[in-house]
Amino acid sequence: MSHIQLVWPNKDLSLRASGGTGYEWVQPTDSRLLKPLKFKQLTARQLNARVNVLAIGDGLDVLDVLTTQTAVLNGGIRLVYIDPPFNTQVNFRQYNDSMLRPMWLSMMRDRLAALRPLLSENASVWVHLDDTELHRARAILDEVFGENAFVASVVWQKKTTRDSRAAFSSNHDTILVYAPSGPQKWKTSRNLLVKEDALLRNRDDDPRGPWADAPFTAPGYRKAQQYDIVTQTGQILRPPKGRSWYATERTYLDLLADERIWFPKGGDGSPRLKMFAHQLRGLVPFTVWGATDTGTNDDAKRHLMSMFPELEVFATPKPESLLERVIHIATNPGELVVDIFGGSGTTAAVAHKMRRRWVVAERNAHTVIDFLLPRLQQVVDGSDPGGVTEATSWVGGGSFEILHVSPRFGTLTGMCRPEAIKQHLAKLAETRSLSLPRKERSAA
Ligand SMILES: C[S@@+](CC[C@H](N)C(=O)[O-])C[C@H]1O[C@@H](n2cnc3c(N)ncnc32)[C@H](O)[C@@H]1O
Repeated sequence: MSHIQLVWPNKDLSLRASGGTGYEWVQPTDSRLLKPLKFKQLTARQLNARVNVLAIGDGLDVLDVLTTQTAVLNGGIRLVYIDPPFNTQVNFRQYNDSMLRPMWLSMMRDRLAALRPLLSENASVWVHLDDTELHRARAILDEVFGENAFVASVVWQKKTTRDSRAAFSSNHDTILVYAPSGPQKWKTSRNLLVKEDALLRNRDDDPRGPWADAPFTAPGYRKAQQYDIVTQTGQILRPPKGRSWYATERTYLDLLADERIWFPKGGDGSPRLKMFAHQLRGLVPFTVWGATDTGTNDDAKRHLMSMFPELEVFATPKPESLLERVIHIATNPGELVVDIFGGSGTTAAVAHKMRRRWVVAERNAHTVIDFLLPRLQQVVDGSDPGGVTEATSWVGGGSFEILHVSPRFGTLTGMCRPEAIKQHLAKLAETRSLSLPRKERSAA
């Protein structure tokens, strides 16, 4: 553990969820923490190692329940992506984003610490923030995972419009990426970005299809790679000063015979190596992600508005194309993606379309009922044409289970009570392919 640490009031206490959306400071020795949490499964199928879970409740409580009660997390979490409230001191329609700083810090520390033992060997943890708490969050992440687990901070261009009233028109968020195994080991299991097809062209009508090209040279002087190359126009070339040809003469002649060498400038230019799609190495991701590739907050809002035209749009959704890139880099099909600040459900929706397993927790029952649940139902039904549906060739399928977890402290009221949510689900089951236990279905 690092000798340098961030300190804050009540750091030695635990911050636990209480009824509603509040929190309570609790001594780690408080005997109430030993009481098992109450939870109800609101859908019919068994929670086993293959299911996807939409959990209604505080993320820390949900992790507590899932670790002790089911096999859902067995095999380990491969990716954690969280987009928590940034603590901007603004209150959005769907959630309050104004915590006292010590509370926000403990809230984050406790939830990251609970995730840590649940990670698989090659896991990574991506924490999406803006500048409000970014530097303090990095100190917490160093404390929980170790400084050596830091991989990168990804700057995401969240908007393309300018705010002319501000000192700086901030148009980015930052995603902190940590891998407990360390960046060098994690690198060997993460996925590279797929090269754009647009880079592949077929300039010589090669029957093997389009290709990309690279200079046929390598750095440094290697004797066996210094020889004459004759261009198509008859010009005799030697490697540039301080460089060698990319391969020995023998390999070069084989490549030439195989029509893998391209002479640009009408046959007069320096040789280039042709590479077909299957021969291309992917691209190492940059740390700056532009809106063209990964979308903006407004793109995400437009997608949600097309799904829920009758609702006031969710305030802070992230675009599916951003999550597609995160999930592509950090996981393979079938692996488990976890998000404990679910919001409108972007992480779960994209993980589902990309054929990953997922667990998502959201504390606000209204957000679940209005956005998360119907959005995921549309993904399963194949009736959401937006976001990454086309890019992932998603046509519908799969399923998920719904779990309600009550906090240990305080009491739940109104829509947050499991009975109220059950009634709502029963109504929904009449029109959608939700699989509820028998009595819930007939109770409606
Ligand atoms: C920034 S939003 C997430 C947006 C999401 N990434 C999306 O694309 O829609 C944060 C969400 O975390 C939820 N939340 C806040 N505290 C929570 C907690 N302790 N446990 C679970 N969810 C929480 C809020 O209700 C809010 O919906």
